[in-house]
Amino acid sequence: MKAIKFLAAAIAGLAVCAAVQARTLDEIKKDGKIIIATEGAYPPFNYFQGSKLSGFEVELGDAIAKKMGLAVEWKALSFDALLAGLRQDRWDVVMASFGITEDRAKAVSFTSPYYCSGGVIVAKDPAIHTVESLNGKTVAVQTGTTYMENVKKLSGVKEVKNFPQDTDARSALLNGRVDAWVSDRFVAKTALASNNTAGLKMGDFVFVEKIAAAVKKGNGSLSAAYDKALAEVMADGTYQTISDKYMKEDIRCH
Ligand code: ARG
Repeated sequence: MKAIKFLAAAIAGLAVCAAVQARTLDEIKKDGKIIIATEGAYPPFNYFQGSKLSGFEVELGDAIAKKMGLAVEWKALSFDALLAGLRQDRWDVVMASFGITEDRAKAVSFTSPYYCSGGVIVAKDPAIHTVESLNGKTVAVQTGTTYMENVKKLSGVKEVKNFPQDTDARSALLNGRVDAWVSDRFVAKTALASNNTAGLKMGDFVFVEKIAAAVKKGNGSLSAAYDKALAEVMADGTYQTISDKYMKEDIRCH
């Protein structure tokens, strides 16, 4: 009986160890390299330009790491794998336009926000531009996003169609398979500026949110260092340059 109790305590101890195994700032510094995971399919924030991972979040992540004295190893994975991978210590940080929500904050720790935005309605029919005008309509969203969560809350919506990638949700609208697409305001702004989206119009916000990087729950040394570096790139003009390049405006939270 004693042996069993001891074993149980030992296993519990192991579980606790596993939960705090995230690389601390010191360990990352010793390595010289921080691992940041993103999706790579969410222009203009993270996407592939040919074989090169690019976008606002990629350049911002590089600039933040530089301030921390670190090189970056970028990883690109499907959106739904990103936060889970933090828990499994597969990477140190996630930068993939995650909005800060209560639910997510139970599973991971968020840094200070690096931009403020929200979900907007995009449609071909100019009559579909307010939340009320989504009544009886079919709406495309990316699976697992705050767009999905918030559109599902609108009781009048006829159907919410989920797509693994946001660009597929956009295609569904372009192909006429849905009446509207709800996505980020700046994703919509960028999409509408390109010539293969003729006929799409941007409507109202469905909700607003703050976007931040995520680290493993409780990795305070890392999030504090990230926040300090973020404040530095926001103060020295680096942030503004990157934001202007992709969005033609400064998208920081005010
Ligand atoms: N901002 C939204 C959310 O928090 C969407 C993020 C989508 N990101 C991406 N890389 N596809 O859920």
